[in-house]
Amino acid sequence: MKILGLLGSPHKTGGTSQLLLAALKAAEREGAQISWYSLYDGEIKPCVGCIQNEGPDCKFPCIFEDYGKFLLQKIYEAEGIILATPIYWFAPSGVVKNLIDRMTSLENMVAFGEPSYLEGKVFGAVVVGADTGAIMTGGYLITTLNSMGAIIPPWAIAYSYKSKASLWDNKDLMNAINVGLLVAKTVALLKGEKVKLAYVEDIALLEEIRKEVLTELKLTSKPTGYVRGVGYLRY
Ligand SMILES: Cc1cc2nc3c(=O)[nH]c(=O)nc-3n(C[C@H](O)[C@H](O)[C@H](O)COP(=O)(O)O)c2cc1C
Repeated sequence: MKILGLLGSPHKTGGTSQLLLAALKAAEREGAQISWYSLYDGEIKPCVGCIQNEGPDCKFPCIFEDYGKFLLQKIYEAEGIILATPIYWFAPSGVVKNLIDRMTSLENMVAFGEPSYLEGKVFGAVVVGADTGAIMTGGYLITTLNSMGAIIPPWAIAYSYKSKASLWDNKDLMNAINVGLLVAKTVALLKGEKVKLAYVEDIALLEEIRKEVLTELKLTSKPTGYVRGVGYLRY
């Protein structure tokens, strides 16, 4: 099974990246073939709403020739998608929003007598901030993807307010691991395998995955230091 990770943060070793990688490593343990891409590694042009053209022109693989098109192809090929975003003003980062708008080209295949190309794909979300807005952000992501036809497993949103120290929070890390496990298990279930969709609490697995993420991201110690969230007060 193919599970795709999408990193919507500019920081390759930040909390969003840490928890995304943990989720993917967990999915790998369920037999997934994992890959991930940063949304910051190329240009994702904003949607121009060509769905309103007479054609309509809005169909996969989208009208633009850019990195966004490359990512849409990866999404098309994946069976499971884990989208990870930092919280930027109670919402996903701008590049994530751009990609979601461009995913209309997958969803709008319904206008051409086909199912949405997102129908039946399994979706999970990882959300990282420093203060507040995780549920607005994660809730937005799963509501949108579900509206495009994706299947949302139980416990499919993991969030942390620990910013670049997210990997060191056991609860947040365990939740991220469960996103990976449950996205993979749901894909397996849809393929007819007999699996149980239950939350796993496994400290040995958590320590194992944390170690792997630390090594892969070349992180040596828990980052310290202030990270601004929202609001004026520094506390
Ligand atoms: C433009 C901007 C807006 C932000 N808004 C929020 C917010 O609404 N809530 C929050 O908890 N953190 C907010 N933050 C803090 C980031 O979410 C935080 O730095 C997080 O660690 C980013 O993830 P990363 O380190 O993986 O990039 C904001 C940061 C930026 C740059």
